[in-house]
Amino acid sequence: MAEKNLQNIDLSEYPHINRGLDGIVAFSTTKSFIDGQSGDLIYSGYHIDILAENATFEEVCFLLWNDRLPNKQELHDLNSSLRKQRGLPAPVLDYIKNTNKSAEPMAVLRSAVSMLADFQDDDADDTANAIALTAKMPTIIAAFNRARQGKDIVEPLADGSTAFNFLYMLNGEKPGEAAERTMDLCLVLHAEHGMNASTFTARTVCATESDMFSAITGAIGALKGPLHGGANTAVMNTLLTLKEQGEDADPVAFTKGKLERKEKLMGFGHRVYKTFDPRAFHLRKMSKALSEETGHEYLYNWSEAMVKTMKEEKNIDPNVDFFSATVYYSIGIQPDLYTCIFAMSRISGWTAHFFEQKANNRLIRPRALYVGEKNLEWTPIEER
Ligand code: SDX
Repeated sequence: MAEKNLQNIDLSEYPHINRGLDGIVAFSTTKSFIDGQSGDLIYSGYHIDILAENATFEEVCFLLWNDRLPNKQELHDLNSSLRKQRGLPAPVLDYIKNTNKSAEPMAVLRSAVSMLADFQDDDADDTANAIALTAKMPTIIAAFNRARQGKDIVEPLADGSTAFNFLYMLNGEKPGEAAERTMDLCLVLHAEHGMNASTFTARTVCATESDMFSAITGAIGALKGPLHGGANTAVMNTLLTLKEQGEDADPVAFTKGKLERKEKLMGFGHRVYKTFDPRAFHLRKMSKALSEETGHEYLYNWSEAMVKTMKEEKNIDPNVDFFSATVYYSIGIQPDLYTCIFAMSRISGWTAHFFEQKANNRLIRPRALYVGEKNLEWTPIEER
């Protein structure tokens, strides 16, 4: 019977395999639009340049969740809900304090987010869960960073923005206006980006009618990889490797060497953009200004040398992860936390897509073309 079914599969149904689902449109969405040829990005109607200039991260959260900007009262209400939700349940805090100090921060974030599900009120709806996740992720990241250094954990403040509070919990002192604005702008720029791998993961989990915590746990796992959000840490590690070479550091030769060996340069290339990533324009500007201010011009100059070489050699531009690395480095953040900051922002997009998927759900279940053997005879174990 099984044999008959296999033979009945009509292979002409599968004209080709679309590796990496390249170009496949799987959903409709109101959350973001990307023009990969012109290098434009829109979140729920607003161009990224407009948002970068005017919006706070909290306004972007509201925008993505509701497809419109909040009025004063709505923004005030969202800010106070986020502030109330910043604290962590004691068992989650205990886990953060007691886990392996050399664990990867993204792995700790993933596990802590998964644990949060056990402590949410049974009657909390998806909106409450999205607010709780957005509020608690910065606390998890900052708490682990302090715990692994043997420092006291800094309790979240009952006021201030997400960006302000995160830097405060990380460093134990209140940040200045410039550092807060830098962090806030980074959160705005990373909030949402179409059907990227982690958002697709979140939607796939949601589509089985699983819960938001499961979807976000999966999304964090997907973001962690160096082909996705993990690239920003990898970029900084590249620049720090060059720094170790001292006077011999040669970013052009380094880039060419990588290409000759057919290795990928982290922070370059994109599935959708065939031109400069519009987010990278903003991050590049910030990277230049901050590097000069903090005496790290050489890092910025090396970055520009790599950008020029990649353009000349491969016609490939930097993506969002390239200049964000030097921005975070200039404000004193440890390289292995960079992907966590991406997650702390992208939670807004992931949860927005969760709402959207749930409102118009269908199980996500593509096919695979079987290329293995058929009709094998059973061999008893003694004869294998
Ligand atoms: C993010 O999807 C999103 O929207 C993601 C994101 C978001 O906001 O969510 O924008 C965030 O994930 C940014 C990407 C971060 N990743 C990296 O920086 C890792 C390095 N980049 C790549 O490995 C690559 O460019 C990807 C993974 C980003 C895209 O991969 P694709 O679309 O599968 O492209 P590919 O690997 O098939 O490359 C196509 C060609 C190849 O050359 P040829 O074999 O055709 O000659 O471009 C070359 C590649 O070798 N290429 C690179 C390169 N990226 C592409 N060559 C060297 N270095 C690179 N970085």
